[in-house]
Amino acid sequence: MNLHTFHTTHVTFNSLEENKPTEVLAGDKKACILKRGDNIFAFAALCPHSGAPMCDGWVDPLGRVVCPLHKYRFDPANGRNTSGEGYKMVTYPVEVRNEEIFIGMLPASPKDEDIVKDNSLSFDDDIERW
Ligand code: FES
Repeated sequence: MNLHTFHTTHVTFNSLEENKPTEVLAGDKKACILKRGDNIFAFAALCPHSGAPMCDGWVDPLGRVVCPLHKYRFDPANGRNTSGEGYKMVTYPVEVRNEEIFIGMLPASPKDEDIVKDNSLSFDDDIERW
């Protein structure tokens, strides 16, 4: 059973620039969306470490989103903190309906400003540590 409520971002797939985090409003909540090839990812607008705006970050050559403030890296598909600091970025499911991008949010999903510490994550050897 899918409990997510999907909100339009009023952004179309073809209007997005490749590998550029883009801030959108979905319902009353800000989020970042990212186009990589045929995929669209959606994640929290604020970094789980100290709240920097993730849409001001960039994508590294391995497809990880880099926070602009302290340069921690996150997998946009699952929020995993691939540079190993132990945080988890909130991610959202995405649907593309007639080219328009919708983001699914749970009624009680974590707020962007929540700091989510996940000590089960480990350092990813293929990522340079900052
Ligand atoms: S605020 Fe994003 S890594 Fe520190």
